Amino acid sequence: MQSNAEENKEPAPPRCPMTGMTRSEAGGGSDETRGSDSTEERKGASTASAETPVLPGRGGKPVYYHSYLQLDKVLDAQQTMSGLAGVGDGKGAHDEHLFIVIHQVYELWFKQILHELNDVVKIFSQPEVRDRQMGTVIHRLRRCTEIQRVLVDQLTVLETMTPLDFLDFRDYLFPASGFQSMQFRKIENILGLDPKSRMRYSGKHYCAYLKEDHADTIKELEKQSSLFDLVEKWLERTPFVAMDEYNFWENYSEAIKVMLRRDREVIEKQAEDHGLSEEEKAAQLASVDVTAKHYDSLLNEEEYEKLRKRGDRRISFGAMKAALLITLYQDEPMLHLPFQVLQLLMDIDEYFTTWRYRHALMVHRMIGIKLGTGGSSGYAYLRATAQRHKIFGDFFNLSTFIIPRSFLPPLPKNMKRRLSFAGGNVGQ
Ligand code: HEM
Repeated sequence: MQSNAEENKEPAPPRCPMTGMTRSEAGGGSDETRGSDSTEERKGASTASAETPVLPGRGGKPVYYHSYLQLDKVLDAQQTMSGLAGVGDGKGAHDEHLFIVIHQVYELWFKQILHELNDVVKIFSQPEVRDRQMGTVIHRLRRCTEIQRVLVDQLTVLETMTPLDFLDFRDYLFPASGFQSMQFRKIENILGLDPKSRMRYSGKHYCAYLKEDHADTIKELEKQSSLFDLVEKWLERTPFVAMDEYNFWENYSEAIKVMLRRDREVIEKQAEDHGLSEEEKAAQLASVDVTAKHYDSLLNEEEYEKLRKRGDRRISFGAMKAALLITLYQDEPMLHLPFQVLQLLMDIDEYFTTWRYRHALMVHRMIGIKLGTGGSSGYAYLRATAQRHKIFGDFFNLSTFIIPRSFLPPLPKNMKRRLSFAGGNVGQ
């Protein structure tokens, strides 16, 4: 309940959403001096007092919300095709406005994701990534995942449009399609979607459907080092995999042998104690053999390279070893941040896959199994991209090779010290 004194108070003056200041705090002019276009803004500038807070770079002009955000341009960019065609009462199909707005919102978020990713790429492009920059990398990547969460969620807004509503204007869109989103392709290529694994689109290269200058930009990006390439190099440089005082790989291989030997012994013992039949015992031992084979595909470099040739692994052997070390010893202070980077790259991949599935489902619901406006098989094509267009799949596979903490080879004290923060407590 409000007190009387509070009820009698004058309403607080409106605050500027950009600066948080009221008009008088900002030294702003009267209503007549406020406007959205630059002429009116200039008038505002001429009435501003000497105390008016102005931002440098604005030539002494006070900043006005509407002009700062260039809302004249943004809010004047929703021209509906059905409106141009005079559909319905002449104003076009009601839902095409939503259709345009939602695509524009997506493109703005794509732009922000690119802004973040380009910075991360810049950091990883240096010959050495300094420890203090890891925080920035994590901050940028996390922002991407938060945006992606919104990208998935907002499909529900579009789903308030029914398939029948969509048909009111769909025919006017041919042959435009999200398939031609240049920023979406940029994101895929900056992250490092492997060109070899890309789905063909009606038998053609995906760039064949872009304007020539867009296609050139995208093809050029394909040639540059992607985040995948740079992270691979960064992992290969990880110093802790083989050091004079400790060879992680030898110790890890030994731990796997011990673990598998123990698994076999447990089965033998169970067979004796609980009277497993020969068949049951053989089946359980065979499953240990399968696990052993999985480990062998990682421990044996030749086997690993065979898998890479077949396209079952993508990242280099050296990078995979480092990623495994970081994952297994994630509790060591110096590995906290690298571990978070690996997690975030997987999150980004997972969110994109989730978006692809959600978009495919929405498309199925909206157009059934009709062809897309861009000419693809529609739902079937989109579902296939969700399965195939993954980038950091190798990091997901790491979980096949992790072992329980109790089997982890303990690190020698000097190695533990190197993985601790300066002056930190090394512990056991
Ligand atoms: C009624 C809503 C929508 C329908 C029916 C639809 C339909 C389709 C179809 C059929 C395709 C495959 C290419 C084609 O043949 O056209 C496609 C691709 C695509 N759409 Fe949509 N879409 C819708 C909304 C959206 C929205 C809101 C976005 C946000 C940007 C979007 C982004 C994309 C992208 C990026 C692709 C390319 C995917 C790839 O090649 O991996 N779509 N869409």
